[in-house]
Amino acid sequence: MTRVLRWMDKTTIPENAAILDIGTGNGAFLVELAKHGYKNLTGIDYSPASVALARNVLQAEDLTDVTVKEMDFLNCQGELKDFDVCIDKGTFDAISLNPENAKEGKKLYVQAIKDALKDRGFFAITSCNWTKEQLLARFSEGFEFVQELPTPSFQFGGKTGSSVAALIFKRIL
Ligand SMILES: C[S@@+](CC[C@H](N)C(=O)[O-])C[C@H]1O[C@@H](n2cnc3c(N)ncnc32)[C@H](O)[C@@H]1O
Repeated sequence: MTRVLRWMDKTTIPENAAILDIGTGNGAFLVELAKHGYKNLTGIDYSPASVALARNVLQAEDLTDVTVKEMDFLNCQGELKDFDVCIDKGTFDAISLNPENAKEGKKLYVQAIKDALKDRGFFAITSCNWTKEQLLARFSEGFEFVQELPTPSFQFGGKTGSSVAALIFKRIL
């Protein structure tokens, strides 16, 4: 979260930018974004329990202007569009690890991101499951790679690796 927020600061994403948190879980990222001054925030999750939790967490923080919707990102029928920034922390991982139809899920996900973003909008993805190279291959068409965010590295067998990949892409029509 901190690294993505730092990137948003550096890139001077405006406070009124439309920001979507995909698979918001407990809404913790929305809370941080709101505390950072972002005012046009939407979180979605297909789990009713997550949505209820995220709403409670936001309410406890007095952040009542944040929208949280129960929605399947892979089947949102054009309801999500014109976002300036889409953020994913762990949701593409969850979708692509789902034993039911993971292949189709990955395809639908890429299309859903394309549909949700404005032209030149940003997509920030943090993944524990896919490497930088795999993500670059997955989000090649319709996206421009912007940068990789620094993540902790480790060494094993003389090689250096990273357990997390955090990448920024830009949507190009
Ligand atoms: C690994 S958790 C990450 C939660 C949160 N982003 C975080 O960083 O703590 C993945 C989340 O994505 C949600 N999710 C998985 N598939 C989804 C889908 N197709 N549409 C919407 N939400 C989905 C799950 O319910 C879960 O809350």
